[in-house]
Amino acid sequence: MHPAFAARSKAAKPIWFVTTATFAKTIAALDKPTRAFVKSVGFEPGPGRHLLLPSGGVLFGLEGKNAPQNPFLPGLLPGVLPAGSYRFANAPHDTRLAVLAFALGAYRFTRYRKAKDKKITLALPDGLDGADLTRIAEGVTLARDLINTPANDMGPDELEAAARALAKRHNAKIRSIVGDALLKDNFPLIHAVGRAAAKAPRLIDLRWGNPKHPRVTVVGKGVCFDTGGLDLKPDNAMLIMKKDMGGAASALALAHMAMDRGLKISLRVLIPAVENSVAGDAFRPLDIYKSRKGLNVEIGNTDAEGRLILADALALADEEKPDLLIDMGTLTGAARVALGPELPPYYTDDEALAAEVARHAAAENDPLWRLPLWPRYDSMLDSKTADLNNVASGGMAGSIVCALFLKRFVSDAKSWLHFDIYAWTPAAKPGRPEGGECQAARALYALLVARYGAA
Ligand code: BES
Ligand code: MN
Ligand code: ZN
Repeated sequence: MHPAFAARSKAAKPIWFVTTATFAKTIAALDKPTRAFVKSVGFEPGPGRHLLLPSGGVLFGLEGKNAPQNPFLPGLLPGVLPAGSYRFANAPHDTRLAVLAFALGAYRFTRYRKAKDKKITLALPDGLDGADLTRIAEGVTLARDLINTPANDMGPDELEAAARALAKRHNAKIRSIVGDALLKDNFPLIHAVGRAAAKAPRLIDLRWGNPKHPRVTVVGKGVCFDTGGLDLKPDNAMLIMKKDMGGAASALALAHMAMDRGLKISLRVLIPAVENSVAGDAFRPLDIYKSRKGLNVEIGNTDAEGRLILADALALADEEKPDLLIDMGTLTGAARVALGPELPPYYTDDEALAAEVARHAAAENDPLWRLPLWPRYDSMLDSKTADLNNVASGGMAGSIVCALFLKRFVSDAKSWLHFDIYAWTPAAKPGRPEGGECQAARALYALLVARYGAA
């Protein structure tokens, strides 16, 4: 059970959810002194506002019926409640998401500075699957911890160690191709991007489940730090680039949820893990590398490194014709310009799959928005000297162009689904503390459960 969850108990202090419309009726049910207290302080039940009651309970404001609703609003509670154990005294808009938000909102990054010990627990309301909510919250916590850990403690080697620990926990098989072995085994792009770093580049390859079950492969961008390479980023753009392994972190989060649930799939997780660094042997603008797939790739910009390492990993994944091939990574600033930090774009040519993703993203409050693999932009990747360039001239439609680049490396997977995530919350939101964020994994987990769950 997640540490924020507890068994039901009468002693737990009540959390009363109120809207402008339900406020009067809700407080009418409280005892007389409490009612008098609420009136005396003139509490107004706006969304996200709270009032601690002298008797130990709390009033918490939600949005009205017709206002836009954030089902994670109760994720504010762990931040404002005094230590203690609590229960929902009445139902919020979406009880399951409210409980999940409570657990996700209780997250703190404590590796380098312990949080003040304030133990807050929530009694699980009837009818909820506490084990499932726990595995989801654990996955998110894993991703956030990996992203928040700075690059000096989360290099390609430490990312591999994290993947190995997860594999051990779930009895998965794992191997890793490290350093110059990447050249021998034909991963030229992963090697080129990562070779300048002090910590060797690698391809982490985790397998779990019954090989006879449908094959689901998840590829996550594991750039442990992105300086931009020789096309060096300016200081403000480089500042949070420890998060550039957010795709790998979210892939591991999804893998945790899927393995812990025991889904009937044959799961493979591929993580190209590198640091995009600067040194004498760094790859250069206008270098040309023959990729694993055989396409010659010209380097228009060393800062478009994520698509390069994903290209070789996707080519490997594609070779065994998976039923579902998913990749995620913090690939472009353009995605954030288009949709902002909390709404990552996704891409697929599979219409039915696109609709499934949209449905689960909405149901899980793990927001995602489809953008097109617009075919007429494909020629923007033309190179004068090689099969393709890693960037477009002109710099328009950056996230779409990146998706079209990756698409060149996928041909045999039954369906392919690509996520251009941000993996970071710039300013705290309910259930989403500032810092590293797990994106797309909860929606994808729900999609996999719907497809391959069986019970
Ligand atoms: N990791 C970055 C993308 C990124 C930047 C994500 C900022 C989130 C916030 C990626 O490797 C990158 O540098 N992309 C370039 C691509 C460009 C050179 C075509 C970008 O977006 O500027
Ligand atoms: Mn970059
Ligand atoms: Zn990057």
